[in-house]
Amino acid sequence: MDKIIINGSYPLKGKVKVSGAKNSTLPIMAACLLSPSKFILKNIPPVLDAYTMTKLLSSLGAKVKWLNETTVSIDSTNVKMWKAPYQIVSKMRASVCVLGPLLARFKKAEVSYPGGCVIGTRPIDLHLKGLEKLGANIELKDGYVIARAKELNGKAIYLAGVYGSTVLGTANVLMAATLAKGETTIEGAACEPEVVDLGNFLIKMGAKIKGLGSPTITIKGVKELHGAEHTIISDRIEAGTYLISGIISRGEVEVEDINPKFLTVFIDKLIECGVKVEQTAKSIKVKAGPNLKPLEITTLPYPGFPTDLQAQMTAFLATIPGISFIHEKIYPDRFMHAAELLRMGAKIMREGATTMIQGGQLIGAPVMASDLRASAALVLAGIAAKGKTEVNRVYHIDRGYPKIDKKLASLGAKIRRVKA
Ligand code: EPU
Repeated sequence: MDKIIINGSYPLKGKVKVSGAKNSTLPIMAACLLSPSKFILKNIPPVLDAYTMTKLLSSLGAKVKWLNETTVSIDSTNVKMWKAPYQIVSKMRASVCVLGPLLARFKKAEVSYPGGCVIGTRPIDLHLKGLEKLGANIELKDGYVIARAKELNGKAIYLAGVYGSTVLGTANVLMAATLAKGETTIEGAACEPEVVDLGNFLIKMGAKIKGLGSPTITIKGVKELHGAEHTIISDRIEAGTYLISGIISRGEVEVEDINPKFLTVFIDKLIECGVKVEQTAKSIKVKAGPNLKPLEITTLPYPGFPTDLQAQMTAFLATIPGISFIHEKIYPDRFMHAAELLRMGAKIMREGATTMIQGGQLIGAPVMASDLRASAALVLAGIAAKGKTEVNRVYHIDRGYPKIDKKLASLGAKIRRVKA
């Protein structure tokens, strides 16, 4: 298995271009199943998860071609299967977002029930509740969710759960509702930019949707959808990760091709911490100030602080003198990175879903990546640490960060990838 080796403690400087958002890409690729048509998707990030979705759509009968590194054509005219097998879903939970489109198009779908993962139990009860409300009959058999419907009918659906709104649950119900009879209202809908991106793509396909980006989305069902071309929005989490690489190394980094509005709360927190932030409509530049201050952060659904930047922010706060707190309100067990950061000299104490971080100097060590964002946090910690850090099992990082070693090297990081 490949590893990333970093010699840390050098300030990074320069500009880096943000790729397309992984979490827009996956449901948007799945949405292409809704209509027997041809689609062109641009700005797709060349990452493992996008390749896994390519495999899943191909296994269902779609013709998926990568026209270049970031453009994909999908022809779903000949899709004749409606089953997402265990082998693929167990690799990538987001495979579950084919459930809504397959059910809407074929009135039946079988999707392996996604298991838990290192960031938590991650149930899909809300997805199923939403689809049942639209008229689906849901059965669990041999580890598969089997959904069937005579027809789907628009309904008022409250979709939030104990941890707030659900991103892929909203995506699944939204996609299914585009072809349901009558009007569907999703209350407690996820407001994430990636859900808005999906909604805008569906509108290009002929769907009638209002209220995207708000907790109430209204969908007027149509008889059929058609092909479309779409450019995926930029990845706000990738952008945030590179911004942290700048400040954790006490350097100066600018990310390009990102809408700063996607990161309002993150930028707010950086300013509170003492980071100098400059923004244009399409870029964000950060420079670590002389006296960085500890922070208290609570992760929440959008527009709250993103859980997908929690691990990276933990690494950063572990370098700031004083005591910081992070309250994780989306995934109360998403702290695998903390144990690995301890190996690098970080002082982190956990009580339930809160960590207390006492900042200081990190020291290089061999560490193990456990999931995508935890891996990114370890790479960032390696950039700040004195000496050599070796991040093992980097396939996790390849799921969502295109060429992270090359992008960080272009900012001056002493980083290399060692092939297994
Ligand atoms: N939840 C339920 N029931 C459900 C669905 C969710 O209780 O039916 C709970 C979850 O357990 C969690 C909360 O609701 O506590 C929010 O989960 P959500 O459904 O929003 O997560 P998701 O849609 O499965 C997406 C991203 C995650 C990101 C979360 C939260 C994709 C492909 N994944 O997951 O991204 O952390 O939203 O913002 O869009 C990542 O990119 O590293 C990643 C994990």
